[in-house]
Amino acid sequence: KGDPRLQAISEAIRVVPHFPKPGIMFQDITTLLLDHKAFKDTVDIFIDRYRDMSISVVAGVEARGFMFGPSIALAIGAKFVPLRKPKKLPGEVISEDYELEYGTDRLEMHVGAVQSGERAVVVDDLVATGGTLSAAIKLLGAEVVECACVIGVPEMIKGYCRLNGKPLYILVEPR
Ligand code: PRP
Repeated sequence: KGDPRLQAISEAIRVVPHFPKPGIMFQDITTLLLDHKAFKDTVDIFIDRYRDMSISVVAGVEARGFMFGPSIALAIGAKFVPLRKPKKLPGEVISEDYELEYGTDRLEMHVGAVQSGERAVVVDDLVATGGTLSAAIKLLGAEVVECACVIGVPEMIKGYCRLNGKPLYILVEPR
């Protein structure tokens, strides 16, 4: 923290009140993607953090983890593994269910995409309850070194209780 780039990254994220439901302050990273410097700085901060950590897997969570993960993977010499919503992957999959506010959802990964000893980072745009990242960690089966998100609520920074004890690295808080 104290990185001057973070302020600009935060300001590049548009906040849309009452989307997709009343009361939700939606953190819209599409405006960050439109801002070349802020987008590049975001990816560069993650690249600088993970380049010398012997990471061979960057896993991205559908859909917005796909917008940051591949750039990080290419730069650090890792493979990119998409963790997808149900029934999107054509091959044999393993899956992990997780709780939503109402009901459950599921992430799927192709069998054989990751070997058990590999060191992985899980990337997403935002962490709220941590339910999604928690499912991603279980699904990977690899040694998850850290979860990386652009936006995270302050409570998640202190106690990453729902992330199975794995560290969480976030750049900015929601505005
Ligand atoms: C959002 C976000 C994270 C997840 C975080 O995705 O991109 O993946 O919610 O919430 P949590 O920490 O409470 O689990 P969403 O479920 O909206 O899916 P989408 O990106 O496919 O629209």
